[in-house]
Amino acid sequence: MTIKILGISGSLRAQSYNTALLRTARTIAGPDAEVDVATLHGIPLYDGDLERDEGLPSAVVDLKGRILASDGLLLVTPEYNHGIPGVFKNAIDWLSRPPGDVPKVFGKRAVAVIGASAGRFGTILAQDAWLPVLKALGSRHWSGGSLMVSQANQAFGEDGELQDEALRERLAGFLRGFAAFATSRVP
Ligand code: FNR
Repeated sequence: MTIKILGISGSLRAQSYNTALLRTARTIAGPDAEVDVATLHGIPLYDGDLERDEGLPSAVVDLKGRILASDGLLLVTPEYNHGIPGVFKNAIDWLSRPPGDVPKVFGKRAVAVIGASAGRFGTILAQDAWLPVLKALGSRHWSGGSLMVSQANQAFGEDGELQDEALRERLAGFLRGFAAFATSRVP
């Protein structure tokens, strides 16, 4: 059985290291896991009036559908000012609407977080900042592995591929562990 992992990159930049990391994950995922790449393009700022008058924006509806079709959700997060980038948190806020949908979108869904940053600590603070959000959503966070790509400006080649072989192996191992967790029985 192939496990379907939906990865969401939290950066809108065309040359984003986080999107590059997610694309590398798609390339190196083992035969048992398939990684799909999603970005946040087209998601407007959360506005309760817009939600009331027009419902969820189509980009949010599409992304929600892709999460629902997945076995596991991989958040690939940049770090801004030691926290979660606003565009990423904004998307999750939209995805948590209406509140009645949260249990089926996030509740008990396997979620893991990785990230790449230009700094020396490779998104450790942003990854930490995701924890209370995942708790609020009731998701099943996998903490059995960790992956932080530091000094990302040196880690990726011109082709956007993660260059360091040891890091690529760690990413492959992370995906194997997460895929196994995503298939494990929910208590
Ligand atoms: C950053 N960056 C950054 N890096 C880091 O390691 N810790 C931090 O706290 C911050 N803070 C920060 C704030 C803002 C507003 C920006 C724009 C950037 C640098 C960041 O790691 C770098 O821009 C990455 O390239 C962002 O990820 P993407 O867009 O390449 O995926």
